[in-house]
Amino acid sequence: MAPDSDELRVLRDAVRILKARPPGDPLGWAGLASAHAVACDTLDPGVQVHFGWWFLPWHRAELYVAEKWLQAAVNEPKLALPYWDWNRFPTIPANYLRSDNPLNDDTRERGPNDPIPPNLVDVSAVMTAATFAAFGGQRFPTNPSQPQRPGSLELRPHNNVHGWVGGNMGFFDTAGLDPLFYAHHANVDRLWDVWVRSDPGHVNPPDAEWLDREFEFRGPTGQPVRVAIREVLMTENLGYRYADPSHEVRLAGGGAGEGPVVVAGPVSTKRVALPPEVVEKVTGAAGKAPRDRARVAIRLGGVKLPSQPTTFNVFVNRPDANAETPPEGESFAGTFTLIPVGRGQHGKAGRSIDVALDISAAAPQLLRASPELAVRVVPVSLRQGKQPERITIDAIDVVVGQ
Ligand code: C2O
Repeated sequence: MAPDSDELRVLRDAVRILKARPPGDPLGWAGLASAHAVACDTLDPGVQVHFGWWFLPWHRAELYVAEKWLQAAVNEPKLALPYWDWNRFPTIPANYLRSDNPLNDDTRERGPNDPIPPNLVDVSAVMTAATFAAFGGQRFPTNPSQPQRPGSLELRPHNNVHGWVGGNMGFFDTAGLDPLFYAHHANVDRLWDVWVRSDPGHVNPPDAEWLDREFEFRGPTGQPVRVAIREVLMTENLGYRYADPSHEVRLAGGGAGEGPVVVAGPVSTKRVALPPEVVEKVTGAAGKAPRDRARVAIRLGGVKLPSQPTTFNVFVNRPDANAETPPEGESFAGTFTLIPVGRGQHGKAGRSIDVALDISAAAPQLLRASPELAVRVVPVSLRQGKQPERITIDAIDVVVGQ
């Protein structure tokens, strides 16, 4: 959006109007943000929409409702939420900065010249996920003590950006207060659209349980608005279409002026030996087209959520990797961030999730060198002076599918 465009002016006006309403007004800015806090910061698995397959449709519905609020505030039905493509524009957009700007939020922990490190927003292994379960998350387990399985779009770039921006964005109960939240989520939403359009094999869940699920919001005048997942699958039904159907992959490494990554915290390494027939299956398919190759993923099972946003780099066969090891090359498996839920309610629920990192591209070469993979999980601090917390992981495995 050009800094002097009408699109930007109406967006800024709308946010200014909502922010100017009295603090306790349910139709003010904090009222809008509370929709997110209620659904995303809860420990109630029947309400929580992160960590699994509700994540993408709930947030699309939320953006739709937020857009309605903003349109109503300025009485401009053409107002549209912009997206922040963190791969093409790795710093926080200038339109969202400066203290006299309603789109600013001064709790952010990043300045105008801080680019987000490429490994945090690397979507190459995310956008090639073969199934919605891998990309967008799995069905919630019926047994609440079982770990939930978020998709890679949620766990990796989405969570990484929340944790990297920090401040209000670093926690689900406050994220919706930062106007950048809506631009961040519009890009996540766009990548869902790109994923579906980029391959006929990329399909949303056909399950009635998913399609029929309804989410409830409050509309711009406080009226209840119910949105079913099946209604949000075509963005055109919600009044928009993304102009740019592509995604750019910034390769990790080589980014001049990247923010500091500080060493700290415990590092765990687990050696996983794969049986010869599995090694054969993976290495034998090396020459085939990516979609015919075996999928190989590292699975971290039962990862307990921390009380602070915490970011991890995962390496394979780099036993010496530490928080200063550059996150690049074939031994680098990916970066993900854990965002806590239920601030202030700690101890009530030991929520845990499973993390899957796709290493299909590097796996044939790694396994040709050795049938044993040493998986190393390295907590990294995105900010100087903050030490990553100790996290428990129940199990580290390598999963070979297809
Ligand atoms: Cu409900 Cu980006 O979060």
